[in-house]
Amino acid sequence: MTTETQFDLVVIGSGPGGYVAAIRAAQLGMKVACVEMRKTLGGTCLNVGCIPSKALLVASEKFEEASHSLGNFGVKVSGVELDLPTMMKHKDDVVKSNVTGVEFLFKKNKITRFTGKGSIAAPGQVTVTKEDGATETVTTKNILIATGSDVMPLPGVTIDEKRIVSSTGALELAGVPKRLVVIGGGVIGLELGSVWQRLGAQVTVVEFLDRILPGMDGEVSKQSQRILAKQGLSFKLSTKVTSAVASDTGVTLTVEPAAGGTAETIEADVVLVAIGRRPYTEGLGLDKVGVELDERKRVKTDHHFRTNVPGIWAIGDVIAGAMLAHKAEEEGVVCAEVMAGQSGHINYDAIPGVVYTWPEIASVGKTEEQLKAAGVNYKVGKFPFTANGRARSMQATEGFVKLLADAHSDKLLGAHIIGASAGEMIEELALALEFGASSEDIARTSHAHPTLTEAIKEAALGVLGRTIHM
Ligand code: FAD
Ligand code: NAI
Repeated sequence: MTTETQFDLVVIGSGPGGYVAAIRAAQLGMKVACVEMRKTLGGTCLNVGCIPSKALLVASEKFEEASHSLGNFGVKVSGVELDLPTMMKHKDDVVKSNVTGVEFLFKKNKITRFTGKGSIAAPGQVTVTKEDGATETVTTKNILIATGSDVMPLPGVTIDEKRIVSSTGALELAGVPKRLVVIGGGVIGLELGSVWQRLGAQVTVVEFLDRILPGMDGEVSKQSQRILAKQGLSFKLSTKVTSAVASDTGVTLTVEPAAGGTAETIEADVVLVAIGRRPYTEGLGLDKVGVELDERKRVKTDHHFRTNVPGIWAIGDVIAGAMLAHKAEEEGVVCAEVMAGQSGHINYDAIPGVVYTWPEIASVGKTEEQLKAAGVNYKVGKFPFTANGRARSMQATEGFVKLLADAHSDKLLGAHIIGASAGEMIEELALALEFGASSEDIARTSHAHPTLTEAIKEAALGVLGRTIHM
């Protein structure tokens, strides 16, 4: 069946990229539809990603505080017990309110929703295949591919979402595993590893490289590993998993040095595979319409998110760049604006990244390694939270603020924070980067006392060689 209505834009995928693009396009006066194969809107992020993981991170942090840290503040707590079903209900409720929030926004913006799998029949034609196999073809001026990403499989390790889980299964475990092995010391591994470690699991992170959080500033990644190890996570770096055999009682993993060498086995109750995500383009019919992919099977676009086929655009995890919800959102907005004839631009250097462990790890702009590789002459300003009054009052003195500025112009080039609320604090530095601020600009901006953000001002003073409180 073919729908009579001609749309200006049909978005395939309702994640942070797709739903934001749909709303922005509707605001600009376009007639918009969105095709989503899940029953709920919001994509990976709202259903099985950012939102449920953060709900469990917050809840498990409260359990950890009640079990171990509140006593240090003179708050005596006894009989602390884990009620995992209620914790999971909290997570499910948060997801539900977020996904229904997107439903509301679709109605408010008069966006037509199609539930089913979208495929591109031809430029200007999207076919929706519903659960019962019925199909409907929608005609449109523009098609936006916002189909996101999926779990990267690991050869020799079959995910069954019970004993060997992806992040999706790790958000739904029915009980706390005694021994959890996490394959991959990246963002998912550390966040979800932290959740289950706080709830009582012995967590071992097996990482192929010689460091966790590759891509983050090297000093930050080293310090993060030290802090997380103190909390009880163990790390097996430069190690590769060659097989995982699940049984009714657990999983036997075979690992060996990444560079080759003697194999050993590790026993686990649950294994989490978190070695990255890959673009999701399955069943979209891209080869049929001739949309080009790059060497990593991501949809190839220009700076304005146009694919090589006129009228077909792509954004978010399915194209190149960081796989982050807010990156997908920015792209969604700019893409809709360009479609509407406006101009748009994204400064990828000012997109922050946050790891929601305790303490949080946040970063924006260049790392020291990147500046060295580019031959940039830079200065460093660093300030530890041990010297910050607010951090002391919170007993949250672990970590530091590190700023990198151009040695000649003093322009801020990168900012890296490990500390409580680092994810909130990094935004000041994203704004500074966006506005081309210097460390002098940050240092001369009044920061309320006593706040954690004073550590940012002090780090900026540090770049200039004139810290006050150290
Ligand atoms: P997605 O959110 O993946 O949405 C794509 C949607 O398209 C999906 O709903 C899918 O069902 C649908 N779809 C795919 N193909 C079709 C089709 N053919 N027809 C119809 N529908 C289709 N990022 C952060 O910034 N912060 C975080 O804290 C964070 N935490 C995360 C935690 C976890 C456990 C995971 C897995 C990811 C996390 N991310 C986080 C990453 C974030 O979820 C992604 O970067 C973001 O969701 C990408 O948005 P997107 O719109 O490109 O795609
Ligand atoms: P990742 O890319 O962050 O980390 C994967 C890790 O696995 C890397 O350290 C890599 O070296 C390692 N690895 C790869 N192959 C391996 C192997 N065979 N054996 C052992 N280790 C191996 O990917 P992750 O953690 O799966 O997350 C996927 C995406 O989701 C990321 O791109 C991230 O941006 C996004 N995400 C973002 C979050 C946030 O912003 N807070 C939270 C969770 C996910």
